[in-house]
Amino acid sequence: MKKVAVITGGASGIGYAIAEKFVKNNIQTMLVGRNKAKLREATCELGKLADWILCDLTQLDEIPGTVQKIIDKFGRIDILVNNAGVHLKKAMTEVTDKEYQDVILTNQTSVFCLTRSVAGFMQEQEGGCILNISSMASIYGLPYVIAYTASKSAIEGMTRAMAVELSPLGIRVNCIAPGFIRTNMSSVALDKDPERKKKVLSRTPLGRLGNPEEVAHAAYFLVSDEASFITGVVLPVDGGNSIGF
Ligand code: NAI
Repeated sequence: MKKVAVITGGASGIGYAIAEKFVKNNIQTMLVGRNKAKLREATCELGKLADWILCDLTQLDEIPGTVQKIIDKFGRIDILVNNAGVHLKKAMTEVTDKEYQDVILTNQTSVFCLTRSVAGFMQEQEGGCILNISSMASIYGLPYVIAYTASKSAIEGMTRAMAVELSPLGIRVNCIAPGFIRTNMSSVALDKDPERKKKVLSRTPLGRLGNPEEVAHAAYFLVSDEASFITGVVLPVDGGNSIGF
């Protein structure tokens, strides 16, 4: 039986690379996103094992209905990748309450709502894998990303909290902390700030930015049966950035 995966924000960047890896490995892959045109284009490129469903994850009350539609279509969800995220780079003293809450809503609260909903079905089917995506911002202090840092630190704590509750039910929960990976999000954050980019590269022992495909390889491993005794971990995929001096 084919496994069924759900990837949020799967039409671009890291999410798209994970979708590509899953499809290549015969996993039925459902992209969840908010931009119809981008979702259509991505599924066209990915081929017949990919499908898409529209859902703005900030609309929390639409999440259970979206999950139900996926279950109605495929009968099960074996893998959930909580990849969608937004970034906000601004001095902490300038960030408004609304801007702060908006980042938390997308990057943290929607992850809880979606995982709660999917985990209910995984519990009924007696197994599944959840993969969260955090960031270097949760490992060390990065200036000008206060809300992003709060949300990604929460993701790592939630990974451990989810793992202890869900693993006894056969649901493994893990997290990848990507380093600086070449995508639209990182281009916005780094290309306009050469000093920051220089600093990133100087403390990355492998001396370069990562590619989305390098995160996808690790994601595929963590949700595969090869990782059957791994739960509750945060795996940096960062070229050594988190241990660089
Ligand atoms: P990206 O901007 O290409 O992908 C983010 C995706 O999330 C987009 O497809 C976007 O449409 C979707 N999304 C955002 N808000 C949404 C909403 N309300 N509802 C539905 N979909 C929504 O960026 P990238 O780089 O691929 O990021 C993917 C994940 O990896 C994010 O969680 C990001 O924080 C994380 N990450 C990225 C790093 C990098 O260097 N690129 C480093 C560390 C973490």
